[in-house]
Amino acid sequence: MPQAAETQFHLLDKSWTLKRFPARKNDPLRAWDAADELLLQEVMGRIQSEQKVLIVNDSFGAISTVLADFKPHWISDSFISQQACKQNLALNQLSENLISWDNAQAWPKQKFDWVLIKLPKSHAQLEDQLYRLRDCIHKNTQIIACAMSKNLHTQSIKLFEKLIGSSHTSLAQKKARLLFAKAEQLEHKDSPYPKSYQLSQYRLEVFNHAAVFSQQKLDIGTAFLLENFPENHNYKNIVDLGCGNGLLGIRAAQLHPEARIDFYDESQAAIASAKLNVQHNNLSDDRLSFHLSNCLDGADVSSADLVLNNPPFHQQHSISGHIAKQMFQQSKKVLKPGGELWVIANRHLGYHKDLDNIFGGHKLVKSNSKFVILKARK
Ligand SMILES: C[S@@+](CC[C@H](N)C(=O)[O-])C[C@H]1O[C@@H](n2cnc3c(N)ncnc32)[C@H](O)[C@@H]1O
Repeated sequence: MPQAAETQFHLLDKSWTLKRFPARKNDPLRAWDAADELLLQEVMGRIQSEQKVLIVNDSFGAISTVLADFKPHWISDSFISQQACKQNLALNQLSENLISWDNAQAWPKQKFDWVLIKLPKSHAQLEDQLYRLRDCIHKNTQIIACAMSKNLHTQSIKLFEKLIGSSHTSLAQKKARLLFAKAEQLEHKDSPYPKSYQLSQYRLEVFNHAAVFSQQKLDIGTAFLLENFPENHNYKNIVDLGCGNGLLGIRAAQLHPEARIDFYDESQAAIASAKLNVQHNNLSDDRLSFHLSNCLDGADVSSADLVLNNPPFHQQHSISGHIAKQMFQQSKKVLKPGGELWVIANRHLGYHKDLDNIFGGHKLVKSNSKFVILKARK
């Protein structure tokens, strides 16, 4: 059994209880990292009470919880990050109404004095955010980004220089660094996202917002499942779990014109991309629904005939299989008796063992040198 991570975050003479979301017994991972800590050390005592603060990509709400009294605006693509932040505010007797929860797809139309950014994993997401940020800064805005050193690339610094203004980084502390950018580029410029590619074999043009999984091209795992898609059954209710740009659910909608399809993802960019793809490819229909959610929270028990799943193996910057396991467990609840879960995954991840534990068995539908398609029946 792994040792539970520390949950008390200390800064100056204060301390806060911070936990990850979804809660796990003996969670071995902390809800903050040295980058959050370095950023908070830098700004504590410098922000004035009347100043406007924007916090972007706060992983589990550590930055926002500590700075909640400044009534910051919050932008994150991740529903889970937002849930984590709400949980951490409550754990510290802070009201969630202290925060203005903005939409990552439509940034607030106002100027901020402080912009605090946790660098996102993807270069495209950072690029999109920096375009949007230009509308939210004035010439005296203090813009500070933080990251673990391994996630702060020369490319990211160049992007700040190109889209915001001259930038420099701090020395590393506990393997974390800060990036300071001058607010020099203040005129509006449209973000180049979403971008699209053609999938002529499926008669689709696929749009991807910047933060979406495999934003530039079709993922090879997804492609493998599309080539070996469940076609032969009379599925009435199909779930695309962790839908990303929605390709699996959209293919299901093409092949099963009578079926109801539910798309689930925790990323706002994913849900927005899936909706856009449905509209753009003329598949809009009452039988298609979209849910911003943690896994299948809120889905009806014993309601689905088929769940399609290409599970994530990251949460924020850390690699972890626990989300996949939660997805399999919830799929079992949501499937009707006899219903099927189809999983596409890298073969080295060993998900067949989890399916055996949860469903009491699995079938190998197809494999190649890199991927397996696994099927489990309730
Ligand atoms: C490997 S991608 C697959 C995307 C898409 N189905 C495809 O095949 O291209 C995994 C997806 O799961 C989503 N995801 C991660 N954690 C999740 C969670 N807790 N609940 C719902 N979706 C989640 C990610 O945002 C991502 O879109």
